Amino acid sequence: SGLRLDGLLPSSPTPDPTPNQPFVIGVSGGTASGKTTVCDMIIQQLHDHRVVLVNQDSFYRGLRPEELERVHEYNFDHPDAFDTEQLLECMRKLISGQGVHVPIYDFKKHQRSSDSFRQVNASDVIILEGILVFHDQGVRDLMNMKIFVDTDADVRLARRIRRDTVERGRDINSVLEQYAKFVKPAFDDFVLPSKKYADVIIPRGGDNHVAIDLIVQHIRTKLGQHDLCKIYPNVYVIQSTFQI
Ligand code: CTP
Repeated sequence: SGLRLDGLLPSSPTPDPTPNQPFVIGVSGGTASGKTTVCDMIIQQLHDHRVVLVNQDSFYRGLRPEELERVHEYNFDHPDAFDTEQLLECMRKLISGQGVHVPIYDFKKHQRSSDSFRQVNASDVIILEGILVFHDQGVRDLMNMKIFVDTDADVRLARRIRRDTVERGRDINSVLEQYAKFVKPAFDDFVLPSKKYADVIIPRGGDNHVAIDLIVQHIRTKLGQHDLCKIYPNVYVIQSTFQI
């Protein structure tokens, strides 16, 4: 019998989707690493397929009044800040071909909209993006490809200061305080350790066009195999291996 490596691997290998199921891509990385840009570029290049984006941020729990009063003590970077059960249910429905209502989250109010949702339809490719999408094993197991966007911490902090002061109604002191107290420690404790689950690590995020091109090529190959499997269910397709 051959050499068994499975005990040495950090997780079971990412599986291919079964025919007729959408291809699920997880995109993780630290705050302001460029996850959204990477997702947008993938979506743009896959314009001839039905692709939907689901943001983990949409599943932030709304704060209770007593938590809102002390919002500076709330850790938005801890896994418990998200309703992961609801995220799982939503992803499972999408994977089974049903449309879903995704909550709309307001970063200024730290609340979900009480009366509106985003309608997300069934599709060929589902991209799930967020700082902690590789943390929960149940969520991880739904993914057919895992991408980690690796951007230097100083670049991320600079982007975060700009974004939070311009778009999320914060002042620079509160951004720096939150970063030192919660964002950086949680990155070290939860985000960085989940990098080991990634199939592909993209240095420099959205600036890395070569990596995005390779990833899109791989997705196209997998989607093509899907289509072949649908037409010729009894024919085996030889799998290609993929590394950057
Ligand atoms: N956050 C916050 N206030 C809230 C909810 C979340 O400040 N009410 C912050 C958390 O501290 C967390 C960040 O939002 O670090 C998560 O969003 P981030 O990943 O930075 O946003 P994206 O736009 O998804 O990132 P990217 O720039 O990589 O696309």
